[in-house]
Amino acid sequence: MWETHRYRVSSRLKSKLVQEGAVLGMEARIAVLGGDGIGPEVTAESIKVVDAIGRRYGHRFDWVPGLVGGRSIDERGTAIDSDTLNLVLGSDAVLFGAVGGPKWDDPLAKVRPEDGILKLRKTLGLFANLRPVKVYPQLIDSSPLRADRLEGVDFVIIRELTGGLYFGKPKRRWENTRGRRAVDTLSYTEKEIQRVVRVGFELARMRRKRLHSLDKMNVMETSRLWREVATEVGHEYPDVELIHMLADNAAMQIVTNPNIFDVIVTENTFGDILSDEAAVIGGSMGMLPSASLTSIPKLNGRRRRGGKPSLYEPIHGSAPDIAGRGIANPLASMLSAAMMLRWSFGLHKEANALEGAIDGFLAEGYRTADIASNDQVPVQTAKVGDMIAAQVGD
Ligand code: IPM
Ligand code: MN
Repeated sequence: MWETHRYRVSSRLKSKLVQEGAVLGMEARIAVLGGDGIGPEVTAESIKVVDAIGRRYGHRFDWVPGLVGGRSIDERGTAIDSDTLNLVLGSDAVLFGAVGGPKWDDPLAKVRPEDGILKLRKTLGLFANLRPVKVYPQLIDSSPLRADRLEGVDFVIIRELTGGLYFGKPKRRWENTRGRRAVDTLSYTEKEIQRVVRVGFELARMRRKRLHSLDKMNVMETSRLWREVATEVGHEYPDVELIHMLADNAAMQIVTNPNIFDVIVTENTFGDILSDEAAVIGGSMGMLPSASLTSIPKLNGRRRRGGKPSLYEPIHGSAPDIAGRGIANPLASMLSAAMMLRWSFGLHKEANALEGAIDGFLAEGYRTADIASNDQVPVQTAKVGDMIAAQVGD
């Protein structure tokens, strides 16, 4: 499936690419779930730049749109239906926008836009959520932290994504004569812990070889199991330094000493909360991508045939207040698309080219509305896509 050579590439370019270790003539089918608010706008720009990459490096990407979130609730009565799930299951990767908005926010509603993404996580088995936190030197002024705390900050949070409080049973609310009551359940099996901790070690091995595993072992039984299993898995990775840290302490370190971290691995809810905290220290949520993977990332790996696809999404939400105005920052979506090229398709050169173009865009002083200073004219969403596409294209 990967070596279809559907595109003709000049022989000079081809031999240069081969020398550089590139994959040639790949063809992939990507489900595009733009969702609500700014989701579809930013996703459209990612498609634009990945297509430019495809033309430049000789790959073909087929983009197949599907409904999810609030728009799916409006049109089909559910946040994700079997048509969209089948589309996704027949794809090589999923590019996701964002879901949600005030229209669907009633706490008593029976269906919520967020059900769509939760259903995808569970159905696809997206157990490892990678959230890289990188501080762009160009954007340090927009960070709430002092510049001296941000030097060299570059870490990845790996959040367990298919277990813990989000999915544990029982999960319900009821009422009796004593009043209303509700319960969520935090539970983990050792296998669930092992596989996500392994992702942490593998990634740390590709980076600075330091892994922080976060838990609340002073309070919680699941955390004591987590710590025990992480230590056991650590024996397979003697070259990686494993540091256990309490999650509340980590919350403090993220804003006081963020540069101590390289890779962080933690359970679902801790990861949800800490990744939002970590996201803002870089200056803008509009810059941070994420990957939700179905298997352990390998530097030279590509998706196995028959396996389920991984999903890539910006970590910012649907921002309904700015939707449709052409001012959203598409860089987080594009960086998510770069992660897709890297982790689903093994296209490292191409991912580097896209990330490099985004770095270059910022280095030249261009800014979108969320990161522009008062005296700057922000670049519009579609224009960002045109500029990055021109940069990565031939
Ligand atoms: C996230 C979001 C989701 C979560 C919501 C939309 C269900 O906050 O991806 O971090 O809580 O996991
Ligand atoms: Mn969240």
